[in-house]
Amino acid sequence: MQTLPHRSAEVAEETLDPGDWSDVQAVARQAVDDAIGYLRDVRERPVWRKIPDEMARTFKAPLPRSPTPLPEVYREVGETVMPFPMGNIHPRFWAWYMGSSNFTGALADFLAAIQGSNLGGGNHAAARMDEQVVNWCKEMIGFPASTSGSLVSGGSMANTIALIVARNVKAGVDVRERGIAAIARPLRFYASDQLHSCHRKAIEAIGLGNGALRRIPTGDDLRLDLAALGAAIAHDRAAGFQPACVIGNAGTVNSGAIDDLQAIAELAAREDLWFHVDGCIGALIAVAPANRHRVRGLERADSVALDPHKWLHAPFEVGCVLVRDAAAHRASFSVEQEYLGKTPRGLAAGDWLYEYGMQTSRGFRALKVWMALKQHGIEKFGRLIDQNIAQGHYLDGLIAAEPLLEITAPTTINIVCFRHLAPGLDDAAARDLNVEIMMRLQEDGTAAISDTTIHGRHCLRVAINNHRTRRSDLDLLVREVVRLGREIAGGR
Ligand SMILES: Cc1ncc(COP(=O)(O)O)c(C=O)c1O
Repeated sequence: MQTLPHRSAEVAEETLDPGDWSDVQAVARQAVDDAIGYLRDVRERPVWRKIPDEMARTFKAPLPRSPTPLPEVYREVGETVMPFPMGNIHPRFWAWYMGSSNFTGALADFLAAIQGSNLGGGNHAAARMDEQVVNWCKEMIGFPASTSGSLVSGGSMANTIALIVARNVKAGVDVRERGIAAIARPLRFYASDQLHSCHRKAIEAIGLGNGALRRIPTGDDLRLDLAALGAAIAHDRAAGFQPACVIGNAGTVNSGAIDDLQAIAELAAREDLWFHVDGCIGALIAVAPANRHRVRGLERADSVALDPHKWLHAPFEVGCVLVRDAAAHRASFSVEQEYLGKTPRGLAAGDWLYEYGMQTSRGFRALKVWMALKQHGIEKFGRLIDQNIAQGHYLDGLIAAEPLLEITAPTTINIVCFRHLAPGLDDAAARDLNVEIMMRLQEDGTAAISDTTIHGRHCLRVAINNHRTRRSDLDLLVREVVRLGREIAGGR
């Protein structure tokens, strides 16, 4: 490199780098030690606790204008943030649906930020690793290598991207150029009434309107009713709509029900529909030897959304969308941009990864998945999925054996829906009792569970997507639910 003849040394220039790296080294070492202790002792702490008011007030502080030494900044985080987590890394967190993270993934997130690459694309190792993780996801669910895919923020974005491609392929016009108003016959998408709400957001965002997403009833098994689906498609065709896509659930968010994916694949082929699978919960069951039969048919989908931040326990955020027709996928998002051209060699050689989704800048999500998969191997993750499903059935058995409790939906995988019985109480009072039990479990720090309403019936819900849970934790949960039920009834 040439030295340029000017007087740059006289200009006072700043950087975010420290003047003395040994200062940050001390804080970083402390942070790693603290982090390891934090994870090692997680079981000893409450699952959740309310942030004290004086702590909450610290989050209202004005914008900092002058510097604070890093050790002090770190100390403040240790006091105000670390003791009050959501709790989803705790062995007794079973609310809503999320993974429980892992140390290797956290280390990877740190390294990814240090290495700093932007995964919009470019010719560098992080981009190649991103492609490799997408390829591994294909392999996990039995998709061909020719499939395209993208690591995204999570399941919601993975589903949205798939629905965009489905719309564009089935529209019959160039929707990207002419918009949805040019579609001759309004498109219709189909899914069971147990579908996750992100699909509604997606269908609204892509301009089709909530009414274009037909909810097909489910029976007591909470699986899509195929006869009702066939009837809805015939009805819509006769009424001048264009049936475009059917979404199958590989694990519904309410109860974990798995639609008959083989039958839906056949129906979609017969009716010329795009077949998308929301596999955010259950696509990865394909790697679990004792349960993989449950998601047979998944490999026939046109697109799949799956969520490594659930059953691969990657720290948030990472989801993955896979699309069988790679050309259709790219054609939905690729834009020629004068400022992001490709070159035959150098940093801009190769595919731009941002051509497969909505983001331009993308984080290095692949590293946390890659490092944990390398360390443990996919067979371990398969066993952990089987373990959670076995724990779900174990809990189902405990509840069924307890006279004061009642299972309210069939347990298929790792989600258990139940309620505390409330003899003599009306529905509203029974709901209040169950919600009170749920809140006390959370406030006592014993366990975090959530609730839902299925086919009009309120219930408590335990989703065991957690590599730290042991059966003894589930024993404790049942004991505490019964104890709290008695305590609340006694206080009435
Ligand atoms: C079946 C299903 N689909 C989609 C989603 C949305 O995924 P994410 O929260 O990763 O956006 C979830 C989340 O739990 C889910 O359970």
